[in-house]
Amino acid sequence: MYLTHEEKEILGGAKGEAPRLAMEILSKIGEINEAERLIPIQSVHLVLHAYKSAFDAGVEAAEKIADMGGKFTVPTTIDPYGMDAEDWRGAKTPEHYAEMQMRLENAVMKMGVLPVWTCTPYYGFNAPRFGDNVAWSESSAVAYANTVIGARTNRQTAIVDICCGILGKTPETGVHLQKNRYGEVLIRLNADRELKSWEYPALGYFLGKKLGSRIGVVQGMKGSPQHEDLKSLCAAAAASGSVTLLHIVGVTPEARTLEEAFGPNKPVEEYAVSLKDLTETRYDLCTNKDDTVDFVALGCPHYSINEIVRVHDLLGGRKINPGTAFWIYANSYAIQLAEKMGIRKSLEDSGVVIRAETCMIISPVAPWGFKTLMTDSGKCSYYGPAECGTDIVFAGVDECVEAAVSGRLPK
Ligand code: F3S
Repeated sequence: MYLTHEEKEILGGAKGEAPRLAMEILSKIGEINEAERLIPIQSVHLVLHAYKSAFDAGVEAAEKIADMGGKFTVPTTIDPYGMDAEDWRGAKTPEHYAEMQMRLENAVMKMGVLPVWTCTPYYGFNAPRFGDNVAWSESSAVAYANTVIGARTNRQTAIVDICCGILGKTPETGVHLQKNRYGEVLIRLNADRELKSWEYPALGYFLGKKLGSRIGVVQGMKGSPQHEDLKSLCAAAAASGSVTLLHIVGVTPEARTLEEAFGPNKPVEEYAVSLKDLTETRYDLCTNKDDTVDFVALGCPHYSINEIVRVHDLLGGRKINPGTAFWIYANSYAIQLAEKMGIRKSLEDSGVVIRAETCMIISPVAPWGFKTLMTDSGKCSYYGPAECGTDIVFAGVDECVEAAVSGRLPK
């Protein structure tokens, strides 16, 4: 891989130990992936964020790089905190876990991370423009950045993302290159109406299963999906498959037409997906044995203020069933807005708990001993059984709210 004179000097240690290590790692990754060069990036989003997934080795690696003098040279955001940032004790977080989480926090703060702990950095804190090269790791955000914004990022991994942040560069491989951004598989969506909110993550889940890591082109999307719809679609596709980029014709900036989405490629495969397939996908995701629900968890990816308002409206001041926990996960900015609007207090008066800057998948939920988790998230439905140790009910947000009130699935 070609290195500029300055990059060679960094590799020789001219700018210190952390940039030298970062250059060594990125140049090796570049060579393995046959990159010709490193390219500048506008931002980074890290996934070395939670002790639950970083373990001791991840915390120690972050501390080591911070102690070497590692500093981010481009805006660098980070995935959700590994425990409730406002009330980790109230969330039954084990003491040792909390201590390690705080060590991880100190290390990334020392390197200059922007401490908005969220998987939705594109809601304003780290919002690339069309065509920008960035280096992000969170799979749902990567799919969103490529698909909805038309920014360019591969799915980075922990530590490599830190190296990208230190150097402000990434190897020019994968979807950074135009030739690798064209569609490969055609998906014909046979729907004679706009999708309902739960149908977007169901579609994402369906697509991820069919596509794996291939680039799908979805033809037939009706109406104008909201950001939140696309967010949940991308998250589910990136969970059930390793989808980095989808072309949704008429939505994705690079897919104004079918021809533009495929460019010089011909579809190597075609699938049709109907509303019936989405209903079947929904029920495939459900593993519940009966109709009792003791945990309703919303906010995967993190809920926007619009989604919090919607829950507030659906709940209409009713009380949550005493045997059911109802938690909403969001970043601190959405929570602050909910506070300013008086919505947080109203939700809490009903018995809803707002969990700050973390999520059900990357914080310890097992100590609560929940049996059945109900969610509107395809991604949470995918990871929930392993990460929360619960059965899953996947449904629309309106049904989640009704179940939280009654403690049972709506008939
Ligand atoms: Fe975000 Fe956690 Fe879901 S990081 S996408 S809320 S698994």
